[in-house]
Amino acid sequence: MGEDYKRKGMMNQLIKIISNNPDVIRCYISMKNYNENLYEHSINVAYLSMVFGSSCYKNLNEITELFIAAILHDYGKMYISRSILDKPGMLTVDERKKIEMHSIMGYIHLKKQTKLSNNILYGVLDHHEKVDGSGYSQGKKSCEISDYAKIITIADVYDAMISDRVYRKKFQRDEVSDYINNNAGNHFDKELVHKFLNLIEEIPNLENLEMRLKSMLTEIQQNHYLIFS
Ligand SMILES: [Fe+2]
Repeated sequence: MGEDYKRKGMMNQLIKIISNNPDVIRCYISMKNYNENLYEHSINVAYLSMVFGSSCYKNLNEITELFIAAILHDYGKMYISRSILDKPGMLTVDERKKIEMHSIMGYIHLKKQTKLSNNILYGVLDHHEKVDGSGYSQGKKSCEISDYAKIITIADVYDAMISDRVYRKKFQRDEVSDYINNNAGNHFDKELVHKFLNLIEEIPNLENLEMRLKSMLTEIQQNHYLIFS
């Protein structure tokens, strides 16, 4: 069975599971309504995490938890003002501090508003931690960081760098791969970087799956609109 075929099957299974999870749907719709860029980035990170996670985990429950944590990893940005999120220029120190609250805000609000597992919540909480302890919000070191967050952080940085931002143009794929490789062992988990960089070479062939994921999630949103609006 081809890898693309297996990934397509995995994606269909995940979408089915998620479409039956009102907590995930409600939070995902809120993010989409709050900020379109935030939603786009979340879907890209979820897609990359699904592909990456499928090569790290065999258990469907683990892949599902990782996928949900990836969709909602920036949920806390809903509590940061749009003027800061979409600011075209450099952020002030104060604005930067506010942005850096988003991982802990996401954890707190998801814990309060949903019945999501602790594994998912810690995936959200730890997604800006770095293995050398220099990340935020708690400065956790390698073995203290959630395994899901270690995967999400690589997908997060990869997608952020290959995308245009209001304050800069996108980087080329090989520049992004070099950046991730150069930061293996200080920002990112070394072993995971090695796996990810091997995997990422296949990604151009999988863009149709990413589009399909987006349209399936949009369909779920439309089906649930009357329930949650
Ligand atoms: Fe984030």
